[in-house]
Amino acid sequence: MTNWKQIDTYAKKWIEEAGEKLRCSFEKKLNIETKTNPNDLVTNMDRETEQFFLDKITETFPGHRVLGEEGMGDAVSDLKGIVWIIDPIDGTMNFIHQQRNFAISIGILEDGIGKIGLVYDVVHDELYHAFKGQGAYMNDKEIPKLKEVAVKEAILSLNATWVTENKKLDPSILAPLVRDVRGTRSYGSAALELAFVAAGRLDAYITPRLSPWDFAGGAILIEEAGGEVSDLYGNPLDYIKGGSLFVSKPGLHKEIRENYLKNL
Ligand code: IPD
Ligand code: CA
Ligand code: CA
Ligand code: CA
Repeated sequence: MTNWKQIDTYAKKWIEEAGEKLRCSFEKKLNIETKTNPNDLVTNMDRETEQFFLDKITETFPGHRVLGEEGMGDAVSDLKGIVWIIDPIDGTMNFIHQQRNFAISIGILEDGIGKIGLVYDVVHDELYHAFKGQGAYMNDKEIPKLKEVAVKEAILSLNATWVTENKKLDPSILAPLVRDVRGTRSYGSAALELAFVAAGRLDAYITPRLSPWDFAGGAILIEEAGGEVSDLYGNPLDYIKGGSLFVSKPGLHKEIRENYLKNL
């Protein structure tokens, strides 16, 4: 029998320890490298944090697998058993430039079903946490269930890229939505944006391209808070390949899909 309480306790403990290491790293010199392009950054702290989780998980739960952004874990091509999907620093650009607006994100899945979601806003010491079927919490305080909101009163989070010329999406798709909502925000950390939707600080977040580690932790939070999670077409998320993502308060999801996303 899987002891989920034990997994949950360790996951929380480790994410807090890793957060403390990240806060301490502000005093030290960062080693910054680029990955796929000059704006795709990675630091020694991204790698060290992923390695920290990998060491802890391998030692404590040898049967579990780890899918992490920096590739230190397993080559995961299916979701059988227990898989930890980890983004050691989500919002690396913010971590480097702003020393805020970044998070550690962990989703723990069993046979493809999200069981535990954790997003840690390290600088604010705010830990968003959800366990399947038991609601969503912020620093152990239950987040009230999300309520419906209309487009004209909604705050939508998205990157400005998606309303300019880009390779993924015709910019005329999202422009009318940007015009009609009450306001837009852009935080540069998908995991935080998902946690903010779960906490009711944002009403929706939309993006045509993410990787599984960007959304695995946050998607569980939103489901447990009573929000809606899908890709841009209304399909379930793919925790191996990643893809587009559209999350929101209840009701708003249908309104946006029917009135703004039907020509995708
Ligand atoms: C990035 C952030 C960003 C999103 C990018 C991600 P990273 O993650 O979540 O908000 O727009 O698509 O790659 O690389 O900082 O972990
Ligand atoms: Ca990255
Ligand atoms: Ca990320
Ligand atoms: Ca990352």
